[in-house]
Amino acid sequence: EEGLHPPAYPWSHRSLFGTFDHASIRRGYQVYREVCSACHSLDRIAWRNLVDVSHTEDEVRAMAEEFEYKDGPNEIGDYFERPGKLSDYMPRPYPNDEAARAGNGGALPPDLSLMVKARHGGCDYIFALLTGYVDPPAGVEIREGLNYNPYFPGGSIAMARLLYDGLVEYDDGTPATTSQMAKDVTTFLAWAAEPEHDDRKKMGVKAIIILSAMTILSIWIKRNRFASLK
Ligand code: HEM
Repeated sequence: EEGLHPPAYPWSHRSLFGTFDHASIRRGYQVYREVCSACHSLDRIAWRNLVDVSHTEDEVRAMAEEFEYKDGPNEIGDYFERPGKLSDYMPRPYPNDEAARAGNGGALPPDLSLMVKARHGGCDYIFALLTGYVDPPAGVEIREGLNYNPYFPGGSIAMARLLYDGLVEYDDGTPATTSQMAKDVTTFLAWAAEPEHDDRKKMGVKAIIILSAMTILSIWIKRNRFASLK
Protein backbone atom coordinates (compact mmCIF):
# COMPACT_ATOMS: atom_id res chain seq x y z
CA GLU A 1 0.00 0.00 0.00
CA GLU A 2 1.40 3.37 -1.02
CA GLY A 3 1.87 6.18 1.50
CA LEU A 4 0.14 9.54 1.30
CA HIS A 5 1.67 11.71 -1.44
CA PRO A 6 3.88 14.37 0.23
CA PRO A 7 3.41 18.07 -0.63
CA ALA A 8 6.17 19.63 -2.79
CA TYR A 9 8.38 22.14 -0.96
CA PRO A 10 10.64 24.80 -2.55
CA TRP A 11 14.05 23.30 -1.63
CA SER A 12 16.73 25.79 -2.71
CA HIS A 13 18.87 22.99 -4.20
CA ARG A 14 16.04 21.67 -6.35
CA SER A 15 15.78 24.78 -8.56
CA LEU A 16 17.61 24.87 -11.89
CA PHE A 17 20.75 26.74 -10.80
CA GLY A 18 20.09 26.69 -7.05
CA THR A 19 22.67 25.47 -4.56
CA PHE A 20 22.29 24.06 -1.05
CA ASP A 21 21.39 26.28 1.89
CA HIS A 22 24.64 25.73 3.78
CA ALA A 23 23.41 27.23 7.06
CA SER A 24 20.63 24.64 6.88
CA ILE A 25 23.16 21.84 6.23
CA ARG A 26 25.01 22.94 9.38
CA ARG A 27 21.86 22.92 11.51
CA GLY A 28 20.82 19.64 9.90
CA TYR A 29 24.11 18.04 10.86
CA GLN A 30 23.39 19.02 14.45
CA VAL A 31 19.98 17.34 14.28
CA TYR A 32 21.53 14.22 12.75
CA ARG A 33 24.21 14.15 15.45
CA GLU A 34 21.96 14.83 18.44
CA VAL A 35 18.91 12.85 17.34
CA CYS A 36 19.17 10.51 14.33
CA SER A 37 22.70 9.19 14.90
CA ALA A 38 21.47 7.33 17.99
CA CYS A 39 19.95 4.78 15.58
CA HIS A 40 21.01 5.60 12.00
CA SER A 41 24.44 5.23 10.41
CA LEU A 42 25.71 7.56 7.68
CA ASP A 43 28.35 5.33 6.17
CA ARG A 44 29.26 7.30 3.06
CA ILE A 45 30.17 10.54 4.85
CA ALA A 46 33.64 11.16 6.29
CA TRP A 47 34.43 14.03 8.67
CA ARG A 48 36.46 15.77 5.96
CA ASN A 49 33.35 16.02 3.77
CA LEU A 50 31.92 18.61 6.19
CA VAL A 51 34.96 20.92 5.89
CA ASP A 52 34.06 24.17 4.14
CA VAL A 53 30.56 22.86 3.54
CA SER A 54 28.99 23.34 6.95
CA HIS A 55 31.93 23.77 9.33
CA THR A 56 35.51 25.04 9.43
CA GLU A 57 38.38 22.55 9.41
CA ASP A 58 39.16 23.27 13.08
CA GLU A 59 35.54 22.66 14.05
CA VAL A 60 35.42 19.35 12.17
CA ARG A 61 38.72 18.18 13.70
CA ALA A 62 37.36 18.88 17.18
CA MET A 63 34.07 17.09 16.35
CA ALA A 64 35.93 14.02 15.05
CA GLU A 65 38.17 13.88 18.12
CA GLU A 66 35.17 13.44 20.37
CA PHE A 67 34.79 9.90 19.00
CA GLU A 68 37.10 6.94 19.58
CA TYR A 69 38.03 4.75 16.62
CA LYS A 70 39.52 1.28 16.60
CA ASP A 71 42.79 1.17 14.69
CA GLY A 72 45.71 -1.15 14.15
CA PRO A 73 47.53 -3.39 14.03
CA ASN A 74 50.56 -1.29 14.98
CA GLU A 75 54.23 -2.38 14.69
CA ILE A 76 53.83 -4.90 17.49
CA GLY A 77 50.52 -6.21 16.17
CA ASP A 78 48.22 -4.54 18.67
CA TYR A 79 44.82 -3.02 18.04
CA PHE A 80 44.13 0.21 19.85
CA GLU A 81 41.68 3.08 20.23
CA ARG A 82 42.47 6.59 19.08
CA PRO A 83 40.50 9.83 18.65
CA GLY A 84 38.82 10.34 15.28
CA LYS A 85 40.49 12.28 12.48
CA LEU A 86 39.31 14.02 9.30
CA SER A 87 39.72 10.91 7.14
CA ASP A 88 37.50 8.75 9.39
CA TYR A 89 33.93 7.99 8.41
CA MET A 90 30.94 8.83 10.61
CA PRO A 91 30.82 6.38 13.52
CA ARG A 92 27.98 3.83 13.54
CA PRO A 93 25.46 3.57 16.36
CA TYR A 94 25.48 -0.25 16.34
CA PRO A 95 28.25 -2.78 15.63
CA ASN A 96 26.01 -4.77 13.24
CA ASP A 97 22.45 -5.21 11.91
CA GLU A 98 21.61 -7.76 14.57
CA ALA A 99 22.39 -5.29 17.36
CA ALA A 100 20.51 -2.55 15.47
CA ARG A 101 17.39 -4.72 15.20
CA ALA A 102 17.66 -5.78 18.82
CA GLY A 103 17.67 -2.11 19.83
CA ASN A 104 14.63 -1.27 17.70
CA GLY A 105 12.07 -3.98 18.37
CA GLY A 106 13.17 -6.03 15.36
CA ALA A 107 13.13 -3.17 12.82
CA LEU A 108 16.34 -2.07 11.12
CA PRO A 109 17.05 1.69 11.03
CA PRO A 110 18.46 2.07 7.50
CA ASP A 111 21.70 3.89 6.69
CA LEU A 112 20.73 7.47 5.83
CA SER A 113 23.52 8.27 3.32
CA LEU A 114 21.44 7.71 0.19
CA MET A 115 17.97 7.83 1.73
CA VAL A 116 16.96 10.99 -0.16
CA LYS A 117 17.68 9.19 -3.43
CA ALA A 118 16.36 5.79 -2.35
CA ARG A 119 12.85 6.88 -1.45
CA HIS A 120 10.20 8.01 -3.87
CA GLY A 121 9.52 11.69 -3.17
CA GLY A 122 13.07 12.36 -1.88
CA CYS A 123 13.28 15.45 0.34
CA ASP A 124 9.54 16.05 0.29
CA TYR A 125 8.95 12.49 1.55
CA ILE A 126 11.50 12.70 4.38
CA PHE A 127 10.19 16.07 5.55
CA ALA A 128 6.60 14.81 5.42
CA LEU A 129 7.55 11.61 7.26
CA LEU A 130 9.34 13.43 10.09
CA THR A 131 6.52 15.93 10.60
CA GLY A 132 3.63 13.63 9.67
CA TYR A 133 2.97 11.60 12.82
CA VAL A 134 -0.71 11.81 13.76
CA ASP A 135 -3.24 9.69 15.64
CA PRO A 136 -4.49 6.79 13.52
CA PRO A 137 -7.93 7.31 11.99
CA ALA A 138 -10.86 5.66 13.76
CA GLY A 139 -10.91 1.94 13.09
CA VAL A 140 -7.24 1.65 12.13
CA GLU A 141 -5.37 -0.71 14.46
CA ILE A 142 -1.64 -0.10 14.96
CA ARG A 143 0.41 -3.05 16.19
CA GLU A 144 2.20 -2.70 19.52
CA GLY A 145 5.58 -1.02 18.98
CA LEU A 146 4.59 0.56 15.67
CA ASN A 147 3.47 4.14 15.00
CA TYR A 148 0.93 5.56 12.60
CA ASN A 149 2.34 7.79 9.87
CA PRO A 150 0.26 8.22 6.70
CA TYR A 151 3.34 9.07 4.57
CA PHE A 152 5.04 5.74 5.32
CA PRO A 153 3.98 3.04 2.86
CA GLY A 154 1.58 0.83 4.81
CA GLY A 155 1.02 3.50 7.46
CA SER A 156 2.74 1.70 10.37
CA ILE A 157 6.37 2.57 11.03
CA ALA A 158 8.72 1.23 13.68
CA MET A 159 10.34 4.67 14.12
CA ALA A 160 8.40 6.83 16.57
CA ARG A 161 8.02 10.59 16.24
CA LEU A 162 11.34 12.11 17.32
CA LEU A 163 11.20 15.81 16.55
CA TYR A 164 9.45 18.12 19.01
CA ASP A 165 9.74 21.92 19.27
CA GLY A 166 12.89 22.95 21.11
CA LEU A 167 14.59 19.55 21.02
CA VAL A 168 17.94 21.01 19.96
CA GLU A 169 19.46 24.46 20.46
CA TYR A 170 20.90 25.94 17.28
CA ASP A 171 24.10 27.98 17.58
CA ASP A 172 22.88 30.48 14.96
CA GLY A 173 19.81 31.30 17.05
CA THR A 174 17.26 29.81 14.63
CA PRO A 175 14.22 28.65 16.63
CA ALA A 176 14.29 24.84 16.62
CA THR A 177 10.67 24.13 15.75
CA THR A 178 9.69 20.64 14.64
CA SER A 179 9.38 21.71 11.01
CA GLN A 180 12.64 23.73 11.11
CA MET A 181 14.56 20.68 12.38
CA ALA A 182 12.86 18.45 9.80
CA LYS A 183 13.77 20.88 7.01
CA ASP A 184 17.38 21.17 8.20
CA VAL A 185 18.02 17.45 8.66
CA THR A 186 16.42 16.76 5.28
CA THR A 187 18.67 19.37 3.64
CA PHE A 188 21.64 17.77 5.41
CA LEU A 189 20.65 14.34 4.09
CA ALA A 190 20.13 15.72 0.58
CA TRP A 191 23.67 17.09 0.70
CA ALA A 192 24.98 13.77 2.10
CA ALA A 193 23.43 11.89 -0.83
CA GLU A 194 25.00 14.30 -3.32
CA PRO A 195 27.99 16.15 -1.81
CA GLU A 196 29.22 17.15 -5.29
CA HIS A 197 25.87 18.77 -6.18
CA ASP A 198 26.90 22.43 -5.79
CA ASP A 199 30.15 22.03 -7.72
CA ARG A 200 28.28 20.30 -10.51
CA LYS A 201 25.78 23.15 -10.80
CA LYS A 202 28.46 25.87 -10.62
CA MET A 203 30.38 24.06 -13.39
CA GLY A 204 27.17 23.94 -15.41
CA VAL A 205 26.68 27.70 -15.10
CA LYS A 206 30.32 28.30 -16.13
CA ALA A 207 29.95 25.94 -19.09
CA ILE A 208 26.84 27.78 -20.25
CA ILE A 209 28.58 31.18 -19.97
CA ILE A 210 31.69 29.98 -21.83
CA LEU A 211 29.78 28.17 -24.56
CA SER A 212 27.48 31.17 -25.08
CA ALA A 213 30.49 33.49 -25.37
CA MET A 214 32.13 31.14 -27.88
CA THR A 215 28.93 30.90 -29.93
CA ILE A 216 28.58 34.69 -30.11
CA LEU A 217 32.25 35.05 -30.95
CA SER A 218 32.08 32.47 -33.74
CA ILE A 219 29.00 34.14 -35.27
CA TRP A 220 30.80 37.50 -35.17
CA ILE A 221 33.96 36.04 -36.79
CA LYS A 222 31.94 34.30 -39.46
CA ARG A 223 30.10 37.52 -40.35
CA ASN A 224 33.36 39.46 -40.50
CA ARG A 225 35.16 36.89 -42.65
CA PHE A 226 32.42 36.66 -45.19
CA ALA A 227 31.45 40.34 -45.09
CA SER A 228 33.48 41.09 -48.26
CA LEU A 229 31.83 38.26 -50.23
CA LYS A 230 28.50 39.02 -51.88
C1 HEM B 1 13.46 4.52 9.45
C2 HEM B 1 14.98 9.12 9.21
C3 HEM B 1 15.85 9.09 13.95
C4 HEM B 1 14.72 4.38 14.14
C5 HEM B 1 13.79 5.78 8.99
C6 HEM B 1 13.65 6.21 7.62
C7 HEM B 1 14.07 7.50 7.55
C8 HEM B 1 14.48 7.88 8.88
C9 HEM B 1 14.13 8.40 6.32
C10 HEM B 1 13.20 5.35 6.46
C11 HEM B 1 11.73 5.35 6.26
C12 HEM B 1 11.42 4.51 5.05
O1 HEM B 1 11.79 3.33 5.03
O2 HEM B 1 10.82 5.03 4.10
C13 HEM B 1 15.34 9.52 10.47
C14 HEM B 1 15.79 10.84 10.83
C15 HEM B 1 16.00 10.85 12.16
C16 HEM B 1 15.72 9.51 12.64
C17 HEM B 1 16.02 11.98 9.83
C18 HEM B 1 16.39 12.01 13.03
C19 HEM B 1 15.66 13.15 12.97
C20 HEM B 1 15.66 7.80 14.42
C21 HEM B 1 15.93 7.35 15.76
C22 HEM B 1 15.59 6.03 15.82
C23 HEM B 1 15.12 5.64 14.50
C24 HEM B 1 16.54 8.22 16.88
C25 HEM B 1 15.65 5.07 16.99
C26 HEM B 1 15.23 5.46 18.23
C27 HEM B 1 14.26 4.02 12.89
C28 HEM B 1 13.78 2.70 12.55
C29 HEM B 1 13.41 2.74 11.19
C30 HEM B 1 13.68 4.09 10.73
C31 HEM B 1 13.71 1.50 13.48
C32 HEM B 1 12.80 1.60 10.37
C33 HEM B 1 11.30 1.83 10.34
C34 HEM B 1 10.52 0.72 9.69
O3 HEM B 1 11.02 0.11 8.74
O4 HEM B 1 9.37 0.48 10.14
N1 HEM B 1 14.29 6.82 9.74
N2 HEM B 1 15.31 8.74 11.60
N3 HEM B 1 15.19 6.74 13.67
N4 HEM B 1 14.19 4.82 11.78
FE1 HEM B 1 14.70 6.78 11.72
